[in-house]
Amino acid sequence: MQRLDKLIASQGTLSRSETVRLIRSGQVTVDGAVCRDPSVKYQESCRITVAGQELNYQQYVYIMLNKPAGILCVSRDPKVPTVVDLLPADMRRKNLFPAGRLDKDSVGLVLLTDDGDFAHRILSPKNDMVKRYHVRVDAPLTDEHCRAFAKGITLADGTPCKPAVMTVLENGDEPLAEVRITEGRYHQVKRMFGVLDRGVNLLKRVAIGEVQLDPSLKEGECRYLTDAERHSLGITE
Ligand code: URA
Repeated sequence: MQRLDKLIASQGTLSRSETVRLIRSGQVTVDGAVCRDPSVKYQESCRITVAGQELNYQQYVYIMLNKPAGILCVSRDPKVPTVVDLLPADMRRKNLFPAGRLDKDSVGLVLLTDDGDFAHRILSPKNDMVKRYHVRVDAPLTDEHCRAFAKGITLADGTPCKPAVMTVLENGDEPLAEVRITEGRYHQVKRMFGVLDRGVNLLKRVAIGEVQLDPSLKEGECRYLTDAERHSLGITE
């Protein structure tokens, strides 16, 4: 149960004061009847309409974004555009943040949510959630490099990484590799290749767990996760 004004404002598109104004002016109905009192408490499952539009209440939201290069993977920044700034106005909510970082120059799959427990679950190294990347490097790759990933690379500062999978998708002067890791250390993939004397020219995250970057999303576009994608990440509500 929540106060009507709080329940509506929590969905992100209206401020609390705009919500109160709409309620007082008779533009909000609950289960078919107009309610002009913002302080009355209702169940989230009630059928609510606001200015004729049905409110589809969601406690938390889960959004997939195809991040372009040059965008910061944080909620807010005074100077540089962030992943939250890319969301269309009707998908914004107060407490949205990226569940897991990509570097400013990295691209691809970012999950945005306001569910802190979920973010913790997918990011905790204890849960072994696989993150899959496509990586363009600046010199040929060999089986020896693949074996080094499988054994577990120790970063230049002595930090040991868990065993990971590196598969060469295209070889040559600028090979394309797929990397699967279950951790999320700062610049981890770039630093792993750095140990093998390979520079990273392009890094794109293509999957988190079973959720793959939707190929129909152009850079900068986003959509809500489907029910199947949410279930695959252990979201039960
Ligand atoms: N590893 C990196 O080095 N950079 C990223 O953006 C993600 C993983």
